[in-house]
Amino acid sequence: MSRRVAILVSGGGSNMVALVKSMTGDHPARPVLVLANSADAGGLVRARELGVEADHVDHRPFKGDRPAFEDALHARLLQAEPDILCLAGFMRVLTEGFVSRWQGRMLNIHPSLLPKYRGLHTHARALEAGETEHGCTVHEVTPELDEGPILGQARVPVLPGDTPDLLAARVLEQEHRLYPAVLRRFAAGDRSRIDLAA
Ligand code: GAR
Repeated sequence: MSRRVAILVSGGGSNMVALVKSMTGDHPARPVLVLANSADAGGLVRARELGVEADHVDHRPFKGDRPAFEDALHARLLQAEPDILCLAGFMRVLTEGFVSRWQGRMLNIHPSLLPKYRGLHTHARALEAGETEHGCTVHEVTPELDEGPILGQARVPVLPGDTPDLLAARVLEQEHRLYPAVLRRFAAGDRSRIDLAA
């Protein structure tokens, strides 16, 4: 039976596009909703172009009342009856209340080799630390930020002359390989870890 996938985005949604495009043929899942926290998230337009229902729940009217925002997000998600939630550049921190409702069914992609560089500015921090290797991680979401069982990682070399932007672009290419590969396995009930090298 095909698993129903909802994808949460805040920005341009290039990972969302990679996920949606991967769910064809004999894939064990299909996209049922792309949901953003703002009407102007570029990912919404791209999702509709790909024929996927897209909607937003604006976080701003909730003015710091995170649980109320999450209740609205949850209610909208439920309408699509997803089995799996993929965070794809979703830049709102989720509370334990929301996470516990989806735990075991929610994935996130993070632009570092976790447990290194949780949080923001991961590429600049990796460069500052003199890393020779960097990458991205797909993990199950648990209440602690960027924690949770790791389902896959992809590594890239850090090259001489790299800037945060150059490194981000090299990592993003790998994100587009890794996230679909992990989702395909996860949707089929396989939580074994994937490791990709550039
Ligand atoms: C991606 O690099 C993703 O790993 C990162 O945001 C970018 C979204 O790009 N996510 C985080 O930093 C989460 N903390 P996209 O909108 O083009 O997929």
